[in-house]
Amino acid sequence: MAKKIIFIVEKKKKETLKSTTFFLRPNQNWHYRAGQYIILQVVINGKKYNRSYSLCSSPSLDEFPAITVKRVKDGMVSNYLNSYIDAGSKLEVWGAYGQFVLPESFLSPLIFIGGGSGLVPIHSLIKEALALSCRQPIFLLSSNRKERNILYKKEWEQIAKKSSNFSFMHTLTKPYQTWEGNKGRIDNSLLISQLEDKFDLQKLLFYICVPDGLSIMVRQWLLSKNVAPYRIIEESFSSTVSPKPHIDEEEKDFTLKLTRQKKTKLSFPINSKTTILQVLLDKDIDIPYSCMDGVCNSCKLFCSSGKTSMEEENGLSKEEKKQGYILSCIAFPKSDVSVELPDEDYTLE
Ligand SMILES: Cc1cc2nc3c(=O)[nH]c(=O)nc-3n(C[C@H](O)[C@H](O)[C@H](O)COP(=O)(O)OP(=O)(O)OC[C@H]3O[C@@H](n4cnc5c(N)ncnc54)[C@H](O)[C@@H]3O)c2cc1C
Ligand code: FES
Repeated sequence: MAKKIIFIVEKKKKETLKSTTFFLRPNQNWHYRAGQYIILQVVINGKKYNRSYSLCSSPSLDEFPAITVKRVKDGMVSNYLNSYIDAGSKLEVWGAYGQFVLPESFLSPLIFIGGGSGLVPIHSLIKEALALSCRQPIFLLSSNRKERNILYKKEWEQIAKKSSNFSFMHTLTKPYQTWEGNKGRIDNSLLISQLEDKFDLQKLLFYICVPDGLSIMVRQWLLSKNVAPYRIIEESFSSTVSPKPHIDEEEKDFTLKLTRQKKTKLSFPINSKTTILQVLLDKDIDIPYSCMDGVCNSCKLFCSSGKTSMEEENGLSKEEKKQGYILSCIAFPKSDVSVELPDEDYTLE
């Protein structure tokens, strides 16, 4: 499990009107895989916020790990980072996390489908694949509103010039008249002309990082073409808030104990309609979390005693469930509960 570490911002580069890349220097030995993300914790007006950001850099090629952050309208952290974080700033980080990573060996052509900030992890993966001498064809299909919104636009061109096995195609949904490239959304006809007509679909490995609606459409299209699910690897930037307890259960009060090496360090009241993560956050206990939806595993904790209920479909493996791990963002107590906080990994203030 990852520890919270300090990254110093080495430099900052404006990518588009709304996006900035931050090159980061970890203050200790730190490793990540291309395509993974980190969780940043920032304090704004005395309140802590956790947000996930994918790495855009290649671990094999780039001196500094880097993230690209796009301003979101009325967004707390994305605007704070773009406006106030500069070279020399310190950032607190957990990670790296995520399974949006390259295969162990390159046995299939790699197809990347990205849109907007979804190009961030894809940039990392494509650079890394080429740095690792992938000889398979690599194709990027990217969707953006306008030309000026395309992340790393010049770099894609430079990479294609250097690497004969890499090609790309941008499609724009709101292009200016001067745009000579493809216009319109990623839809069935574009998928057919760019993928089905050119490749043997069932033999490809797909990496998709686009807004959720488009991701569902592309996935369904691929499945309808008999592409095996394991060949479709997706990353989602959205998080659903507020998991729901079983509605028919009456509210009960319990105690949540936080232990370290089995010794109780703190205890709090918790009721059966509140997740364990919510109580920890309310009590200002630092714990990594990202999706808040039981998918990413970053909020995993060991439950040493007591019972919790979680949605059955979640990011824990059978083995982890058997060992007593829970995902605190979707775990509601069903009795008094003790969770173990590993040494060094969490701050108990
Ligand atoms: C795995 C992963 C990787 C990611 N990688 C990247 C990346 O590489 N680059 C990137 O830019 N982003 C990335 N993100 C998204 C990022 O984590 C943030 O979600 C994003 O920056 C917005 O955060 P924010 O604090 O600015 O916005 P928030 O303050 O969280 O607000 C987001 C939006 O929700 C609205 N909102 C907030 N609170 C409420 C409320 N109570 N009711 C109704 N609406 C509300 C806001 O008005 C705003 O429009 C990633 C996310 C994940 C999960
Ligand atoms: S925060 Fe992602 S699984 Fe809990």
